[in-house]
Amino acid sequence: MTLELGVLVSGSGTNLGAILAAVAERRLDARVRLVVSNKADAKGLDRARAVGVPTAVVPHGAFPTRQAFDEELVRVLRAANVEWVVLAGFMRVVTPVLLDAFRDRVVNIHPALLPAFPGVDAQAQALAYGVKITGCTVHFVDAGVDTGPIILQEAVPVLDTDDRAALAARVLEREHELLVRALGLIAAGRVQIGAPDERGRRRVSIGGPPAA
Ligand code: GRF
Repeated sequence: MTLELGVLVSGSGTNLGAILAAVAERRLDARVRLVVSNKADAKGLDRARAVGVPTAVVPHGAFPTRQAFDEELVRVLRAANVEWVVLAGFMRVVTPVLLDAFRDRVVNIHPALLPAFPGVDAQAQALAYGVKITGCTVHFVDAGVDTGPIILQEAVPVLDTDDRAALAARVLEREHELLVRALGLIAAGRVQIGAPDERGRRRVSIGGPPAA
C-alpha cells in the first residue's frame, strides 16, 4: 500500500530529506502529503518546498494547551489526507488527541537505543553515561516519552574521541536508513503490533515478505 504520510519536523529535517529521497527514487512506496512544523524557520520546511511538497506551520506558542495544539495538527493533517504521521525531529510531546486520531499510525525516530536515553539530547546522555554502544530506534508513539512499541533499532559505536556533534552525526546517518527501512516494512504490510501483555506492553513483530 502507498503510505500517505504527514511528516512533523522542528529542525533541519534531514530525516525528512531521507524520506523524500527514498520516495523520489521509488525505494519507498509513500507520498508525503504534508510537512508540518511548529517552527516557521525550520529548515525541514525548505526541503519540502524545494520538491513541491505542501507545508504548514503550526506555532505551538499560539495554543493554550498541548491538546489544543494537537487538535490543530490533526485538522491540517486530515485536510491533507494524511494517514500515517512521522515525527522526524519533532521536538514536541504529542497527546492522545493526535494519537487517537491516528491510532497506531504515529511513528518516531529517536537517536538512542531505547529504553536507554529517552527524551531530549539522547546523544549527550549517552556520552555522559559512558556507554560504548548507542544507536537509533524507530518506534510507534504512545502517550509516554519515547516509550512506544519498537519497530527497528540499529547499534552505533561510541568512540573515545567523540564529542556530541561527532556522535550525533554518526547516529543521524544510521537514522536516515533505519527510518526509511521501517516505513518500507509498514508499507509492505509487514509490521504488526501485538496485544498488550500482562504489564500492558505491546511488542512489534516483523512478518515475512508478503506472498508474490
Ligand atoms: C534526529 O537525531 C532525531 O532522531 C532527533 O532529532 C534529530 C533530527 O534531525 N529526534 P533532522 O531534523 O531529521 O535532521
